[in-house]
Amino acid sequence: MNHRDADAPREEEMEKFNYYSPTEIVFGKGTEGQTGELVKKYGGSRVFIVYGGHSAVKSGLLDRVKASLDAAGLASLAMGGVVPNPRVSLAQKMTDAAREFGADFVLAVGGGSVIDTAKGVALALASPEYKVWDFWSKKAPLVKSVPHAAILTISAAGSETSDSAVLTNDEKVPPTKRGIQNDINRCCFTIMNPELTMTLPVWQIGAGAADIFMHTSERYFAKILGNHLTDEMAEGLFRDIICYGPKGVADPHDYEAMSEIMWCGSVSHIGLTGLGSQGDTPRQGDWSCHQLGMAISALYDSTHGATLTAVWAAWAHYVMGQNTARFAQYARKVFGITEPDDWKAAEEGIEKTNAFFKSLGMPLTLAELIGHEPTDEEITALATECSFDRTRTIGSFRELNFDDMVKIYEACRA
Ligand code: NZQ
Ligand code: ZN
Repeated sequence: MNHRDADAPREEEMEKFNYYSPTEIVFGKGTEGQTGELVKKYGGSRVFIVYGGHSAVKSGLLDRVKASLDAAGLASLAMGGVVPNPRVSLAQKMTDAAREFGADFVLAVGGGSVIDTAKGVALALASPEYKVWDFWSKKAPLVKSVPHAAILTISAAGSETSDSAVLTNDEKVPPTKRGIQNDINRCCFTIMNPELTMTLPVWQIGAGAADIFMHTSERYFAKILGNHLTDEMAEGLFRDIICYGPKGVADPHDYEAMSEIMWCGSVSHIGLTGLGSQGDTPRQGDWSCHQLGMAISALYDSTHGATLTAVWAAWAHYVMGQNTARFAQYARKVFGITEPDDWKAAEEGIEKTNAFFKSLGMPLTLAELIGHEPTDEEITALATECSFDRTRTIGSFRELNFDDMVKIYEACRA
């Protein structure tokens, strides 16, 4: 299915979809003051707070959150130390501490890494017979979790509204980074105050905007494409993040930009921009770039959003022949490109996308990302990790095997 104007004859009926998004979104300045009441509303009485390195302590946010819990008469215990590409070993330690504390609610104060760690703690707390990694290794069933919520401090991963959680197994050599998806991973509520993101380093704002772009790109370039409204929402989201992402990088105190980026982050991963792209599979979209990127993070501990910009154009060139009209539609609707030839328009769209990534300060090659040109051995190691030791393919727009992965990594080598 290619682009269709709303009044053009419909070639196919609207694709079927499921949409479930139970997270209460509380957006705006000062909303962290509502934390205590919200936790109470969702049944929490003993709250285990997960946070990261130092940003939430330094900004005073953690103290404000604790004060709100105290005011609501709720007991809390806070534990920090979560790092980007969060490690399962810490999630396990936190689970043990939360269990000893008798936690019945897990509250993340941070970004994707903190939220995903909290999701791991919540899963393992609900099933004491399992360790955290058991849920990622498919040993444990994804059937129950302890109620959890997020106070967001970085607009990026969309974990605050998504059904996903991504952890790195740091006990494996080499480490491996895996994601799981299930509705039980959805937050009860998320507090989103754009002012909380104004202390972010510009690198993180740029990487976040890239990730936000990508959560819609992964859904937009998918196999099943047939819902006009879904396309319009996706294209609107692309235009918004392309407009406001660079503004946030230029001035983190621009409230309008930081608000738009924050709302884009949640909407991009809430599922709306991919409705109808899942076909008969439970997962919307393609997700190849994420899989290629997660292998890079596993082996080099690279920032998630930056891994995606390093591979996107190589991936796009590799797969665009599969449905060139889709890439041309993207170029025309998102960038206003008027070139009538689909192939040329698609190429222009890919160039403009790379210019957007560059305006965010993001890398366009592996060499830029990891600081050296990867050797053939390194590329083989990346494709081995990405293909789970050659046991799986990735993607739905175009299915990619180990050899395809090698070719894409080679194409963005330098
Ligand atoms: O630890 P602190 O000191 O807080 O520093 C963090 C961290 O260094 C800093 N930061 C966060 N808020 C800040 C701040 N610094 C100053 N002021 C603030 N307000 O930012 C750094 C990055 O934090 P992180 O949580 O890692 O960022 P992000 O939200 O990008 O999360 C990335 C992780 O999420 C996963 C990624 O793979 C990666 O592991 N993802 C999770 C998804 C999901 N669960 O749905 C989907 C995504 O595709 C993604 O895979
Ligand atoms: Zn992502």
